[in-house]
Amino acid sequence: MYKAEDHILVIFGASGDLTRRKLLPALEELQKLDLLPERFAVLGLGRSSYNDQSFRDQLSSHLQGDRELLSHLHYSTMDPGDKGAYPQLGQKLKELSTSLQSAPNYIFYLATPPSLYEKVTAQLHSVGLLQDKEHWRKVVYEKPFGVNYESAVDLNRSLLSYLKEEQIYRIDHYLGKETVQNVLVTRFSNGIFEPLWNRNYIHHVEVTAAESLGVGSRGGYYDHSGALRDMLQNHLLQLVGLVAMEPPTVISSNAIRNEVLKVFQSLRPIHGDLIPKQVIRGQYTHSHVRGETMKAYREEEGVPEDSRTETYVAMKLFIDNWRWGGVPFYIRSGKRLPTRVTEIVVHFKESPHTLFCNPQGEGLKGNQLVIRIQPDEGILLKFGMKVQGAGFKVQEANLDFHYKNLSDNYIPEAYQRLLLDCMQGDSTLYTRGDAIEAAWRFVDPILRAWERDQGIPLHGYPCGTWGPELADELIEEEEYSWRYPCKNLADDGLFCEL
Ligand code: BG6
Repeated sequence: MYKAEDHILVIFGASGDLTRRKLLPALEELQKLDLLPERFAVLGLGRSSYNDQSFRDQLSSHLQGDRELLSHLHYSTMDPGDKGAYPQLGQKLKELSTSLQSAPNYIFYLATPPSLYEKVTAQLHSVGLLQDKEHWRKVVYEKPFGVNYESAVDLNRSLLSYLKEEQIYRIDHYLGKETVQNVLVTRFSNGIFEPLWNRNYIHHVEVTAAESLGVGSRGGYYDHSGALRDMLQNHLLQLVGLVAMEPPTVISSNAIRNEVLKVFQSLRPIHGDLIPKQVIRGQYTHSHVRGETMKAYREEEGVPEDSRTETYVAMKLFIDNWRWGGVPFYIRSGKRLPTRVTEIVVHFKESPHTLFCNPQGEGLKGNQLVIRIQPDEGILLKFGMKVQGAGFKVQEANLDFHYKNLSDNYIPEAYQRLLLDCMQGDSTLYTRGDAIEAAWRFVDPILRAWERDQGIPLHGYPCGTWGPELADELIEEEEYSWRYPCKNLADDGLFCEL
């Protein structure tokens, strides 16, 4: 890894939560690893009135220990919606570059409400801050990128009138997770998986992103979003994209993103009557878990009492191409589920002829490859082993790799990797405009049907359960069901949160 070139990181909305919780800790780690440039500054912008010192003071408690980063932090009070403030911003950046003796390379990080993305970009463009022949200018956009297909297309079109695609970095923080990148490495560095990775050998694939927390103080935002927009359209589909993509010809940003795009373009549309059959939505209701009372979603701060926003979604989808024809993908995500876990489970087909049975007299199900994204990152392969002693009984055994055993290295946070990649000009782990549009195109009919047709049920599920019971029926074949990682974690002797 090498240091990025000298630059200034300009954060719009710097007094918000994201800077404190994610960006600053990520920068601190990069500083510790000596990956920040020699001449580097962060310029925080926001409506809250701070100066350099008070900005540093309020952030210092969020640093782990390394105070060196603080001296790089600067702040200017600025309303990002105020056109008149942009010439001053240009002036400020010139002054900072001069005092740092740094080349005027800038990253503009928009940690603002999405409604400002277009306006801020237009203003940066109007004062000439987005174009420079000799120095680079990049803009990072946080999620959500659009609220449906049309708005994402409009936003892309508008941004592309000010910027080139290579200057645009759209964040999906799941792609910054080490274990998500490991899906590519597992698939394409091991000759043993790829020959089996298709409809001939795979029965179905599951993707679960479960959270034990509720919406907390984000009710105001979340109620306009819901699980389909907040998790499935982006994070879950990205995971599907990496599991299902064809091998890229080279490891380059466009080669990888081209293959992910093809997966999204091959998603079989879910329309009309198929929607209630293939997509189950739920909302958490009040319950008592381990002596603790948990609020219903409708009782959360900022959520209307009659809200019909889903906090859970489960979907059965198909990818219509040669590799995956007929293989169902079951994907689900929800809040207030029994534990926090994200995993991908590849279920291989059963062996064609049963020679061995378990002590209960049944043949074993197909092998499962479980890719644990978080927590307890790792990979688990379930396979049949002979039970010791007389006869030929078989039982399921685990070949279990835990990332923590690989080395003493800690697993870096997603934002650390993503920020560094943006500084170094690598957009592989950022989503490209066409892929975002293709993902919205797929979920749009579902969003529209839910908005239009109140007859499509929204199922209640008590906090601390695995979501609506009906979600089980998505997996139609009797002998199969969702994997319940909480139970398995408990079986493995690991703590299960609820
Ligand atoms: C965010 C969603 O994108 O991802 C949140 O807006 C969600 O609602 C979060 O909690 C989950 O991220 P992680 O990294 O904790 O799995």
